[in-house]
Amino acid sequence: MTDGRLAVPMPVAYEVPRIHVLSIPPPAVDADLIVIPVAEEYAAAIAAEFDAAVGGSLGVALARGEFTPRPLEAFTAPVTGSGWTANRMVFMGGGARAEIGPERLRRMAAASVSLARQQRRGRMAWLDVEPGAMDAAHRVDILAEGLTTANFDGGIHKSRPDPRFFLSDVTIVTAAQSAVAAASAGRIVGDAINSARVLINEPGNFLVPARFVEKGASLASVEGVSVDVFDERKLETMGMGLLLGVGRGSAEPPRMLIARYEPTDAPTDVTLGLIGKGITFDTGGISIKPADGMERMKDDMAGGATVIAALRALALLRVPLRIVAVVPSAENMPGGRALKPGDVLRSASGLTVEVNNTDAEGRLILGDALWYARQIGATHLVDVATLTGACIVALGKITTGLFASPQPWGDAIRIAAHRSGEKIWQLPLFDDYKETLKSDIADMINSPGRPAGAVTAAMFLKEFAGAGPWAHLDIAGTAWADEAKPWVAKGATGAMIRTLVELGRNQIPR
Ligand code: BES
Ligand code: MN
Ligand code: ZN
Repeated sequence: MTDGRLAVPMPVAYEVPRIHVLSIPPPAVDADLIVIPVAEEYAAAIAAEFDAAVGGSLGVALARGEFTPRPLEAFTAPVTGSGWTANRMVFMGGGARAEIGPERLRRMAAASVSLARQQRRGRMAWLDVEPGAMDAAHRVDILAEGLTTANFDGGIHKSRPDPRFFLSDVTIVTAAQSAVAAASAGRIVGDAINSARVLINEPGNFLVPARFVEKGASLASVEGVSVDVFDERKLETMGMGLLLGVGRGSAEPPRMLIARYEPTDAPTDVTLGLIGKGITFDTGGISIKPADGMERMKDDMAGGATVIAALRALALLRVPLRIVAVVPSAENMPGGRALKPGDVLRSASGLTVEVNNTDAEGRLILGDALWYARQIGATHLVDVATLTGACIVALGKITTGLFASPQPWGDAIRIAAHRSGEKIWQLPLFDDYKETLKSDIADMINSPGRPAGAVTAAMFLKEFAGAGPWAHLDIAGTAWADEAKPWVAKGATGAMIRTLVELGRNQIPR
């Protein structure tokens, strides 16, 4: 932006660092800061190798207990030894070697980026000196992704932006042959995660359904992907009564985004269907929410942004797998035309729903979307949604809720989450819960009440998911960080994007 006299740079939420992979001796590495991960078991070996470079200060700090290699504990020292190009080192504690899995490593990477950004050092090197608990390609992939997602802030609408400093370059110093491809993959995934976080952080007045699907369509539009947007009239001809019903109270009409990635080298008998909740703001509708904390409901499209980002990353990675993303989007508002408790809606699948609570809107729009994903040939479904407060009661803000049927599909998702370093926990879908959905007047009600609220929401979705494999991820607790941590900025987290990408890359039954 410019006012003609002053060139005011447009504030940005993140920068994607250039990532270089080099196999050279550490003293030759040119960077503002060299980061050296330190597992407990290797503290002595690291000191033996690098203490001379930092004038003996590492050995002293370890001996006096001023630095212990506990997770995320860092020791910074100027480089005084001769023969070194870089002038500062950070020793980043990792804890026990066996515990340095994907999540720990990502946090170590992110914490080192926070340090570099605080110190305004824009060119970082990371020495891949220890085996940790992962193979080299996996390690470098996670590292590149973690370094990229840590190069991110919120707050882009301040008229006088806080001073921002981003990393411009990271050099991963490693002997691993697979590192170049792995680093580039990690950077693609990190970039996709950041683009989803920007959308999720956007206020509801900026990101109405039409704008959300427009932004989503442009994120999805990479090579091999075709996109389609259904407007209100099209939704009417398709009979999507649940999505239309939720959208009725708003002056901003609902939309549905469909993105198809169909690479020519993909098997034709499997199509991964990714369905994401796209409520751009959730007031609750006529069953209105309390004022306290309602502003957070601008993130109620996080599931939609998540599946769009995952499809984008998988397409950029040229994964040989057919994928469709279906994102229903609406603004849940009270209004003269709004849904009322007791109203009956007819879904595209034909099932009728008595809406006893207009705040249980996510399951409504997902009902039409799940059915449509099957309709267009998806064989394996995963939906992602900020669906229930009850999931936060059950699992807090730490763990995503998983529901799946049949079990092998749930297992594939659990493995993907484990390999991505994201926490999920499966909750049941016992048939006995189904009777809670009974309605006197229609096929089902949408809101059975407080007991097992996350489970009954999933039971509702299951009615629309058809016969094949289906899983549901409730990210109500994990989509948003209430406070900044050394490894994650406050606000949108991008939870479950990594897991979906890993699912599409490596865990689909073939
Ligand atoms: N978007 C909310 C769920 C939510 C709540 C996400 C808090 C993140 C934080 C969802 O649409 C909702 O309102 N769910 C209701 C369902 C109830 C009416 C059955 C809820 O959880 O209270
Ligand atoms: Mn709601
Ligand atoms: Zn909602």
